[in-house]
Amino acid sequence: FAEIKKHTKEYFFKLLVIGEIGTGKTSFINRYVHKQFSTQYRATIGLDFALKVINWDKNTIIRLQLWDIAGQERFGSMTRVYYKEAVGAFVVFDVTRKQSLDHVIKWKSDLDAKVCLPDGEPIPSVLLANKCDLNKDEYATNASLMNQFCEKHQFSGWFYTSAKNNINIDECANFLISKVLEKH
Ligand code: GTP
Ligand code: MG
Repeated sequence: FAEIKKHTKEYFFKLLVIGEIGTGKTSFINRYVHKQFSTQYRATIGLDFALKVINWDKNTIIRLQLWDIAGQERFGSMTRVYYKEAVGAFVVFDVTRKQSLDHVIKWKSDLDAKVCLPDGEPIPSVLLANKCDLNKDEYATNASLMNQFCEKHQFSGWFYTSAKNNINIDECANFLISKVLEKH
């Protein structure tokens, strides 16, 4: 047992979940961490937390702390404090609302202005095109436009997700974690 323990690596990662009001940040976390979904909307006030422990591989344990930041906070002054020491971020928009994608640009630039890697590069981030179970806005159906958008705004990648139907939830999280691991 001591031999096994010696080779076990443990990480603690603070990940942010940001994006406009009602895009599904809390729902994403509830699906990912608690395997639950509710159609009822209860706005997050300030922020919330969730923890998840992942046995990444036989030698690696990852403790995730997910910071669920209220969409309303973009207009607040607390984001600097919230973003401190984050190593990765999910930026969520709602595929049925093009406006929420426009706002992604503001969330992403706020993020990059307030937290970065020691070498000055942006922290890894993944764009979530959430509510993909519903009718998509035209822009959000165009994968090549989405790829361009991610390149331009320095996202590590993007995924269609549905917190409701459990689409790509583990996949996008594993993708972000692997990007974070490359830097640690
Ligand atoms: P704030 O806390 O105000 O910033 O909102 P939020 O981003 O946390 O949104 P929340 O998770 O509360 O979801 C808002 C609404 O969208 C709720 O009614 C959810 O049920 C619904 N919703 C979230 N994700 C999905 C999804 O993947 N598909 C569908 N159809 N509805 C979703
Ligand atoms: Mg919320």
